[in-house]
Amino acid sequence: MTVFIISGKKGALDDLINERFAGDKENLIMILQAINKEYNYLPRPALTYVSTRLDVPLSQIYGIATFYSMFSLEPRGRNIVTICLGTACHVRGGERIKERLESYLGIHAGDTTEDMRFTLETVRCIGCCSLGPVVTVNEKVYARTDSEKTLKTLDQYE
Ligand code: FES
Repeated sequence: MTVFIISGKKGALDDLINERFAGDKENLIMILQAINKEYNYLPRPALTYVSTRLDVPLSQIYGIATFYSMFSLEPRGRNIVTICLGTACHVRGGERIKERLESYLGIHAGDTTEDMRFTLETVRCIGCCSLGPVVTVNEKVYARTDSEKTLKTLDQYE
């Protein structure tokens, strides 16, 4: 049986599926969220295992994994930096923040630093336009930010 480490404990993915989600395929999206949260992406072996365990076609799982932007099929960094480039944030300097971060981190949006510390992403509006420009790091929102403030913010994240 494949053993996955969940929440820092060496345990089977089975435990997660059974104990937290009652082994119920109706909870598939929540199971995928838990896996994605643990690894910051959805490892293929985990998806294959879930498919077998819940008797859900792998194609259906991939369909969900690719439909929702919260899921990633590629390994991502420990910290996800997301720059809003929706219209309101764009006109207030979102693009400048993106260019500065790309230069500072040495990657393009969509990529991950070699040390796996940061993944840089962009989004088209996160629904708080009046606070733009907005950058999020993991789940924390940094409002009315700029390039220099954002660079200082990144120092807080290992
Ligand atoms: S455009 Fe950035 S939050 Fe809406």
